[in-house]
Amino acid sequence: MTGPRLQRLSAGEALPSWVTRLDRTAFGAVWNAPAAHEVLWLLPEVAFARWACIPAAGEAELLRIAVDPAHRGEGLGQRLLTACQDALAAEAMEDLHLEVRASNLPAIRLYRACGWERCGLRAGYYPDGEDALLFRWAHS
Ligand SMILES: CC(C)(COP(=O)(O)OP(=O)(O)OC[C@H]1O[C@@H](n2cnc3c(N)ncnc32)[C@H](O)[C@@H]1OP(=O)(O)O)[C@@H](O)C(=O)NCCC(=O)NCCS
Repeated sequence: MTGPRLQRLSAGEALPSWVTRLDRTAFGAVWNAPAAHEVLWLLPEVAFARWACIPAAGEAELLRIAVDPAHRGEGLGQRLLTACQDALAAEAMEDLHLEVRASNLPAIRLYRACGWERCGLRAGYYPDGEDALLFRWAHS
């Protein structure tokens, strides 16, 4: 597939300014450079996914994924997420988790398209009272 090449960013590496901009646009709040247990995969200038990794348990949690608003619906989210899943599975992290607002239909559609399955609900989880849906992906 053509398009930007996937890059990996680990603890101790600075966040590119476009990640900070997209973080603010997508979530309204910017997170810092990755902590010791975190890793980001990037499609430069257009998309990032941030994970918390627990290699000893074979697990990872998707903390944030965002695509530049001008490029949503082009398959980039799916390309990035499947690449993350493959990369994590190759590092023996084959049990992946995330939580998502119940109203975030584009994200839920993305997760389902990438093979994630709903595995639970946290009622009233978010500060505004919205439920969180829990999803899981397991390497087959
Ligand atoms: C969620 C997000 C990452 C999806 O990225 P994307 O590049 O637009 O997604 P893709 O183009 O790869 O589409 C993946 C699937 O989601 C669907 N989808 C994408 N945007 C959609 C929308 N606005 N409405 C409905 N479905 C949508 C696609 O149709 C596709 O499903 P399909 O294969 O069944 O047709 C993007 O919308 C985004 O950055 N949202 C803001 C940040 C956010 O909410 N992140 C998730 C919580 S951390």
